Amino acid sequence: MKLFDVYPLYDVTPVSAKGIEILDDKGEKYLDFYGGHAVISIGHSHPHYVNRLKEQLDTIGFYSNSVQNPLQEQLATKLGALSHCEDYNLFMCNSGAEANENALKMASFHTGKSKVIAFSNSFHGRTSAAVATTDNPSINAPINKQQEVTFLALNDFDVFEKAIVSGEYCAVILEAIQGVGGLDEPTTEFYQFVEEKCKSNNVILIADEVQSGFGRSGQFFAFQHHGIQPDIISIAKGMGNGFPVGGILIHENIKASYGLLGTTFGGNHLACVATLAVLEVLEKDDLMANATRLGDYFKQQALEIPEIKKIKGRGLMLGLEFDFEIADLRKRLIHNQHMFTGSAKNKYLLRFLPALNITKEQIDVFFAALKTELK
Ligand SMILES: Cc1ncc(COP(=O)(O)O)c(C=O)c1O
Repeated sequence: MKLFDVYPLYDVTPVSAKGIEILDDKGEKYLDFYGGHAVISIGHSHPHYVNRLKEQLDTIGFYSNSVQNPLQEQLATKLGALSHCEDYNLFMCNSGAEANENALKMASFHTGKSKVIAFSNSFHGRTSAAVATTDNPSINAPINKQQEVTFLALNDFDVFEKAIVSGEYCAVILEAIQGVGGLDEPTTEFYQFVEEKCKSNNVILIADEVQSGFGRSGQFFAFQHHGIQPDIISIAKGMGNGFPVGGILIHENIKASYGLLGTTFGGNHLACVATLAVLEVLEKDDLMANATRLGDYFKQQALEIPEIKKIKGRGLMLGLEFDFEIADLRKRLIHNQHMFTGSAKNKYLLRFLPALNITKEQIDVFFAALKTELK
């Protein structure tokens, strides 16, 4: 059997990793400034994370959601406290798309409606309703087009109001900082307007924090920069530092009932411990403050490079926009400088999504390499 060939691959074979350093099969060292699509939040093979997972694996790795699993409650308590979201309830699943799928489903159950408002350049995943709310027709199959989704421009107050008062929508889904789209974000005024209109029209506001959550923006959730309170928050990626885990936080105004949502693997013992380990390191090492501090340092360094036209993002969810397409620069950073960075739908944007415990010195190494490649 061969692999179903859907990924254009770089010719690098990582075999081990520690912090932001990756070693390939030839013994060459690479620096990971991308975290495998914003997944590595506390660094590769963090010792606390590795020990927690090993110990759990030696004890019990999995049982289904038909028995008590106190680790889920421990996790909900810790997550509620660290994120200041105590008045939400946690449902666990396995990925970002699945989180959004469940969020949209809950919105539809709650309101009895099915249409959704999403925004231009959004990315919410590749499954049924999640991909339908993703602004990319090339990854929507005919079967996904059954979902009725209206795409609106960020920060267009009038168009948003006209749509939402129609009474047809169950949900608005929004990334507080767009990831794949290219680091655009709504203004605080727009976000607050969306929140208010959702409330007055009985529409569920879903904050997709799959990429921007778990401290990456400098706040636990990126919507917290705007002083709003969504009804449902989707989480994944940095949550498990590489262990596949996702979830939704559902405001306690929305009631649960048996059978409403479900999953075989979601919330298993290993997933809970991976997430607890991430939260413990985030808290102990004050990584949200580090994300803010080092994000500011990164922006200062970027200002010195004339080829950079725009610096986007917050904390360690960052993008550098050039006046040329960056595909070739990104390749040269990997092959010549041994550095992983990311691209976006915006072809001019280089994405920088390192582990939240990156150091100033590592950022200096990145900029020195970038300058070399821009000469
Ligand atoms: C904002 C956002 N939502 C959802 C997803 C989908 O997550 P997953 O690939 O875990 O299904 C992504 C993935 O890039 C994302 O960036």
